[in-house]
Amino acid sequence: MTLSLVETRRAARHRRAVAYWVVTGGMYLSLWLGATLAPPAWLHYASLFAHLASVIVGLGAAVLLETKGLLWTTGRRTLDELRQTERTVTPLAWLGIVGLLGTGAFLQPDLSDPLTALKMLAVFVVALNGVAMTRLSRELMRLPPRVRFSSLPGRMRAWCVWSAVVSQAGWWTAVVIGMLNTAAP
Ligand code: HEM
Repeated sequence: MTLSLVETRRAARHRRAVAYWVVTGGMYLSLWLGATLAPPAWLHYASLFAHLASVIVGLGAAVLLETKGLLWTTGRRTLDELRQTERTVTPLAWLGIVGLLGTGAFLQPDLSDPLTALKMLAVFVVALNGVAMTRLSRELMRLPPRVRFSSLPGRMRAWCVWSAVVSQAGWWTAVVIGMLNTAAP
């Protein structure tokens, strides 16, 4: 490995470590504000609307990316097409997550409810997995644009599948529990 490659990897690792802390701090701040603030009804409803808009943006980005990934695994899209999609939707996914953390702070989450606690865990996992996926993206970036999924080493294939499964499981857990909470009397 050349020296510059080692330095680039070290810088990426450092950026990821910072991102994990930013995500943890953002999550903590959102929950702390959510447990502290008592917004008026109009602000609650406005936040709920923005919350739902953030779900559409974030979940939409995640579904699009993982669908493209699935199509690559079956040979119906190239890795290059997947990478182009990844470049487009990643900022949207983060916009959605930031929007959800920001608007959730005005929705008075009941953290003593086990379902809500599970939802927050799912949200945290989604955000951490988003940071972890930047490492996978970097590894995929170094592969030839038309490499087939089936020709990758088993470890790399398992890493791709695991990242996608964690992402989808986390998003859908949060969405379903969020809707149950809103629907509850
Ligand atoms: C991946 C992140 C998240 C997703 C996918 C998500 C999804 C949802 C959905 C789909 C709803 C139902 C909206 C409706 O039916 O109109 C909801 C409601 C809610 N969310 Fe989230 N949410 C996320 C993060 C958060 C966070 C971080 C908080 C708090 C800090 C939060 C607090 C709430 C509360 C309290 C409600 C119920 C509001 C009410 O009914 O008045 N959510 N969420």
